[in-house]
Amino acid sequence: MKGLVLSGGAGTRLRPITHTSAKQLVPVANRPVLFYGLEALRDAGVTDVGIVVGDTHAEIEAAVGDGSALGIRATYIRQAAPLGLAHAVLTAEEFLDGSPFVMYLGDNLLRDGITELVERFRAGTSDAMILLQRVSDPQSYGVAELRDGRVVRLVEKPREPVSDLALVGVYMFSPAIMDSAKAIRPSGRGELEITDAIQHMIDRGLAVEPHEVTGWWKDTGRIDDMLEANRLILEVIEPRVEGELVDAALEGRIVIEAGARVVRSSIRGPAVIGAGALIEDAYIGPYTAISDRVVVRRAEVEHSILLEDSRVEEIDARVESSLIGRGVTIRRTGEKPRAYRFMVGDSSTIGLL
Ligand code: DAU
Repeated sequence: MKGLVLSGGAGTRLRPITHTSAKQLVPVANRPVLFYGLEALRDAGVTDVGIVVGDTHAEIEAAVGDGSALGIRATYIRQAAPLGLAHAVLTAEEFLDGSPFVMYLGDNLLRDGITELVERFRAGTSDAMILLQRVSDPQSYGVAELRDGRVVRLVEKPREPVSDLALVGVYMFSPAIMDSAKAIRPSGRGELEITDAIQHMIDRGLAVEPHEVTGWWKDTGRIDDMLEANRLILEVIEPRVEGELVDAALEGRIVIEAGARVVRSSIRGPAVIGAGALIEDAYIGPYTAISDRVVVRRAEVEHSILLEDSRVEEIDARVESSLIGRGVTIRRTGEKPRAYRFMVGDSSTIGLL
């Protein structure tokens, strides 16, 4: 079986971070979310993996390389524009070469991996396997309607959902998906929807097997989901301290990478501090991921993700539930007149006290 990982697309809901970088590379517990999916495929024995890329291809290729560090063999497939998940499948036709495959959306995370599901699909005779999970906001997802345990209808982001069973971003297909992807027309939002292609399979009498996922699942396309994924992964990290501690108080699960320094500060895990970071006269609270070379000085940060080379300094109030991009500086200056001074990118959100 082959793997097809979708890592193109626009990432509009994570702007401004995704103005400048791929949403699949936003880190969860300091590792790109995409890596977790690639490793889930590897663990399921799927190592021949096509990665669909778009405008951010250079960045994705730089991060994943030939895939060997993650135990897979990566082939990059350029999609000229994000015209939909079924369009991505069509773009990969040559790579897939008539093989059954697992399609994995590059911004999805599943706690329990996919090994058992891949085995089940391999052993069975169905033409597709879809994964489902109950959600409180089904209008944000593809939604499945089941009758007597069989899939009867799939609708992409319905305004009035008929069920709360969302489609998880992992699908298994026989090559029969190709004909269905070719047969459908673009949806109202102008995309060739995989949901419509699967509905087409159902309509022509092919077997589409549903499977309800019980372990947690996250589509990290929005900041709240990103923070939640970060929290869930940090909860199970293996503690390890390789950086330097000077008058530091650590409590709970904490990773401190080599070259990081924690000076006169307290860290309450679960938390991870990246290589070369400096935490000085500061407090880092639970569920925080500090990336490489970040500086937190005389400030308190909790339940947040700070990307590389950012600085948070001299802040009286606690920074929390925040996603801070690369090279950002948030600092009290003491300059007169006392005023807020911003240089903030498009589509940013700032919450003031
Ligand atoms: O996360 C689960 C949901 O994923 C499902 O419930 C929906 O049925 C499914 O359509 C999809 O919805 P999203 O709106 O979340 O899809 P998104 O546009 O975020 O794309 C998912 C991934 O695929 C993302 O990593 C970007 C990539 N992509 C997307 C498109 C539209 C591509 O590589 N090419 C594309 O053309």
